[in-house]
Amino acid sequence: KITPCLLCGGSGTRLWPLSRKSYPKQFASLIGEESLFQASARRVSQAAGGLSFAPPLTITNNDFRFIVAEQLTEAGIDPGPILIEPEGRNTAPAVLAAALYLAQHDPEAVMLVAPSDHLIPDTAAFLASVEAGLSAVARGDLVTFGIAPTRPETGYGYLHLGAQPDSSGQPIALHNFVEKPDLANAERMLSAGDYLWNAGIFLFRVADILAAFEAHAPELLDPVRQSVTQARSDLGFVRLEPEAWGKARDISIDYAVMEKAQNLSVVPFSGEWSDLGGWDAVWRESGPDAQGVVCSDHATAIECADSLLRSEAEGVELVGIGLENIIAVAMQDAVLVAAKDRAQDVKEAVAALKARG
Ligand code: GDD
Ligand code: MG
Repeated sequence: KITPCLLCGGSGTRLWPLSRKSYPKQFASLIGEESLFQASARRVSQAAGGLSFAPPLTITNNDFRFIVAEQLTEAGIDPGPILIEPEGRNTAPAVLAAALYLAQHDPEAVMLVAPSDHLIPDTAAFLASVEAGLSAVARGDLVTFGIAPTRPETGYGYLHLGAQPDSSGQPIALHNFVEKPDLANAERMLSAGDYLWNAGIFLFRVADILAAFEAHAPELLDPVRQSVTQARSDLGFVRLEPEAWGKARDISIDYAVMEKAQNLSVVPFSGEWSDLGGWDAVWRESGPDAQGVVCSDHATAIECADSLLRSEAEGVELVGIGLENIIAVAMQDAVLVAAKDRAQDVKEAVAALKARG
């Protein structure tokens, strides 16, 4: 049995104003009816092929605890343990806490660590890749999932293949893992041809990831272990102890463990994958029409091209005329109008708004 560990702590500021600190993108119905979080939980809830999954362990924060429980129940998924971080310390402490928690209850567990805000439409293909990864997990490897890169993206991790992939979809040993390169390095790796993007999904045994933390990020062990052992159960939520937690270093698992570990494998994944890292990605993944236009309910595009018009506010009609390359998102209390190729700058805009208070 595999235990899905759903990371659900991010605030997705690049999808402002739909994604908010209090209601981030993973909980909104960005594409389709279900939220990305529900879709992520569903993806790893059924038995498929030779796989079976335990109820998911969700790692989230205090603000999201009821949304998490509610959305799982609404989707008909057994909520499993919900771990609450006193504050976000990035993914390394979150994954370590999940591993230590599982070590107390099910030390033999295999963990499938997954973000809760990605789009992976082909569940069967995804589960086949997870199943393929199990052979490397059985050898003690930390398994990553690789996506064929299409641009020199600097926001992703890159996986340097130790061998050429064949069509079998079997795991391949990695030379190394490079997290968030600068543009020059990203361009070099893209043209080298033997790198894949890291999808941000990981598969490993509890014992193996604990050994990796011990070897590569030992400073995290004491605070996170203390926080887990002194955790308090509250209305079914597992509240990590705040004082010890506050001493854990703020670092992602990619930097803390993956860039340093030697026992890495990758399963190449050829299905569609998007981390919906901005409005341009949402536009692309929403199936633009022949003119490249995506319109929500209560939005009308007249002679527009390559644009996304989306009204999320009750009773607010959004009309675009003669627009090209535009993202327009209307909420009850905020409106975004941006050039589509500047979609990544929304993050800075949110920071500026926040600074203004
Ligand atoms: N519980 C919890 N606590 N979850 C967190 C925290 C935290 O402190 N910080 C981030 N997360 C969640 C996010 O919500 C997201 O689902 C996931 O963990 C990954 O965090 P991101 O902050 O989105 O990471 P990234 O996009 O910069 O980079 C990662 O994903 C890329 C693919 O999308 C890395 O793994 C890259 O190597 C990878 O290419
Ligand atoms: Mg991300």
